[in-house]
Amino acid sequence: MQIARIIEISKFKDQEVTIQGWLYNKRSSGKLRFLQIRDGSGTIQAVVFKGDVSDPVFQVCDELTQESSVVVSGIVAADKRSSLGFELQVRDIQIQQIAKEYPISPKEHGTAFLMDHRHLWLRSSKQHTILKVRHALIRASRDFFDGQGFTLVDAPIFTPAACEGTTTLFETDYFGEKAYLTQSGQLYMEAAAMAVGKAYCFGPTFRAEKSKTRRHLTEFWMIEPEVAYMDLDGDMDLAENFVAFIVQRVLESCQEELKVLERDITILEKIKTPFPRISYDEAVKIIHDKGLEFEYGNDFGAPDETAISENFDTPILVHRYPAAIKAFYMKKDPADQTKALCVDMLAPEGVGEIIGGGQREDDLDVLLAGIKKHNLPVEAFNWYLDLRKYGSVPHSGFGLGIERTVGWITGITHVRETIPFPRMMQRLTP
Ligand code: 4AD
Ligand code: MG
Repeated sequence: MQIARIIEISKFKDQEVTIQGWLYNKRSSGKLRFLQIRDGSGTIQAVVFKGDVSDPVFQVCDELTQESSVVVSGIVAADKRSSLGFELQVRDIQIQQIAKEYPISPKEHGTAFLMDHRHLWLRSSKQHTILKVRHALIRASRDFFDGQGFTLVDAPIFTPAACEGTTTLFETDYFGEKAYLTQSGQLYMEAAAMAVGKAYCFGPTFRAEKSKTRRHLTEFWMIEPEVAYMDLDGDMDLAENFVAFIVQRVLESCQEELKVLERDITILEKIKTPFPRISYDEAVKIIHDKGLEFEYGNDFGAPDETAISENFDTPILVHRYPAAIKAFYMKKDPADQTKALCVDMLAPEGVGEIIGGGQREDDLDVLLAGIKKHNLPVEAFNWYLDLRKYGSVPHSGFGLGIERTVGWITGITHVRETIPFPRMMQRLTP
């Protein structure tokens, strides 16, 4: 028995192979039964001709229900009509299990229903195609940093302190002490960068986001590089090279997937460096010039980000936001102490922020004052302050949210479909 995966079926032309899969759909016509079999790598039409198989095998076709698990053997035959280019002329079928009535039929279902059945919904071609692009993007991210001499350093999930503000902390009971699920691996990457020069982490991060928007999850994955002796300009170079690289790689390695998702790839093909760089002040001017209401000094909301980025074909880098609305660790711009040396990358097509980062405060006293000003507990940051006592250097980094980036590249507008099992304010199952 030669087991084949559908994706590699062309290698087996005119040979007998066995496919291990599930029934996606079927139809019959006289002495023929047409079974659509999927195996996770693709879908193939398996044609059962009454004269080619035993009577029990032919009869079993009528018992098969959607998602029944079946092992189908047959000859791989070229077939010009199928998009795969091949069909299977069946010789034998072994039933693994006849599925009970499958809740997701080809008819339309509401999103809440599909989300409740996420564990099954993943079998639909669109959903698992998104996951394949997500995988390709993660692999490309690792390749990018690995190829540039970065060391992967894993950050902890339980943390004693807040990194991104105290309002979105998930608190847990850690043997009678308070611990928080990490909001970002950044502070640990700063320690790592002082040890290895260039470090990155990739892992889940958590925010008790009370917002029910299409771009907020409570658990999401971030890739976070951090580099010693790098300033804000270097950080922006790294961010744009990184994003251009992963887009290019997905274009090369996911052609089929992007077709299934009906993504307009001409938009992605335009993503070339350098990306436009504009200051917060310039961004505010764009918003005001469009006649939108926006109070200078505030952070941008989703509609503001759309207004800023819709002028551009590529992602843009918006730098130097007001320090007052940014995290405690950001270094202030020496040219204007009211601004932080930070950068957000906004993706086009209304996607908005996919990267947040910047240059870190490297002076012990200034950093300490920032921690106090944000009413954060100094004790929890003593280890972090050590980094400014022992060989402090200018350093920078950023975090890219994988889900928003997958959403942008696949053209899927809601982040809940870009992660296998989304966690949101009102969703903890499945
Ligand atoms: O801008 P953020 O909050 O930056 C940081 O956490 C920095 N400490 C990262 C660093 O410099 N190492 O988050 C970074 C990115 C955002 O641009 C966005 O893509 C994503 O993480 N993100 C979310 N994605 C989904 N759901 C949420 N609730 C998200 N919050 C942030
Ligand atoms: Mg941000």
